[in-house]
Amino acid sequence: GKVAVLMGGTSAEREISLLSGGGVLAALRAKGVDAQAFDPAGRALTELKAEGFARCFIALHGRHGEDGTVQGALELLGIPYTGSGVMASAIAMDKVMTKRVWLAEALPTPRWVRLGVDEQQRERVRTVPDELGLPLIVKPPREGSSIGVTKVHGYSEMQDAVQLAARYDPDVLCEEFIDGEEVTCPVLGEGAEARALPVVRIQPPEAGYDYQNKYFTDEVRYLCPSGLPEAEEREIQRIVVAAYRALGCRGWGRADLMIRASDRKPFLLEMNTSPGMTGHSLVPISARAAGISYEDLCLHLLAQARL
Ligand code: DAL
Ligand code: MG
Repeated sequence: GKVAVLMGGTSAEREISLLSGGGVLAALRAKGVDAQAFDPAGRALTELKAEGFARCFIALHGRHGEDGTVQGALELLGIPYTGSGVMASAIAMDKVMTKRVWLAEALPTPRWVRLGVDEQQRERVRTVPDELGLPLIVKPPREGSSIGVTKVHGYSEMQDAVQLAARYDPDVLCEEFIDGEEVTCPVLGEGAEARALPVVRIQPPEAGYDYQNKYFTDEVRYLCPSGLPEAEEREIQRIVVAAYRALGCRGWGRADLMIRASDRKPFLLEMNTSPGMTGHSLVPISARAAGISYEDLCLHLLAQARL
């Protein structure tokens, strides 16, 4: 039957989702799938049922797409969908809830302070660097693509960073900065069958890895195969699969991590349950290194779609 590629949506990552969805749509069509774009920003999800869509490929990012809400609506409509279910999507969307789950499983994640709406006044904000050290990272806990993220180097920068993050989320996440290199690692499958794909090493320009150079420049270098020592690569894959299973993810996901330079210890930053599929995105890079083409990856994910 017909497949809807859900793309666009209303989150701050709408622009990225349109790029992901465009890629997925073209890939599925190239494989002979009767696929059509469907943008929940412009149409009610109930139309999926009325128009006889048999399955959905979710290429939405961020809130009302990656956070369990769309997944819940599709459950109620009885339309199978790609990727994680309601609970894993909802937890993974929130970086603080995610950290709590990981800590309960003794998985490594940077220390943090969460500032609720009533804790964002100057006096409280000023105490955060005493707890986490400097530099530190300030971000909205339920966003993606580096939107609203600031690396804070001094006390005087804290208030602006918190205000920026608070534009995207009422809560603000302040996180210990791990000095080292950023890597990412996708996972495919579910439960005991979950398997990590090759690790991708991200080498950003001096200015850092941000929204602009994530998607719209070629200044970031992506190494895959990673070139990491084999034991390190395998340890990262082990942690990432454990992190994925702890959250109850299924279908696919991609964990982002930092490897601390001083002792090469990996720290989990977050799990993306609807990873980017743009021309600059990381899962396609990793899949290709594993011998899986972009088109085959899309077809594989679609085949795993369920309720
Ligand atoms: N949030 C973006 C889409 C990613 O993680 O790929
Ligand atoms: Mg993310």
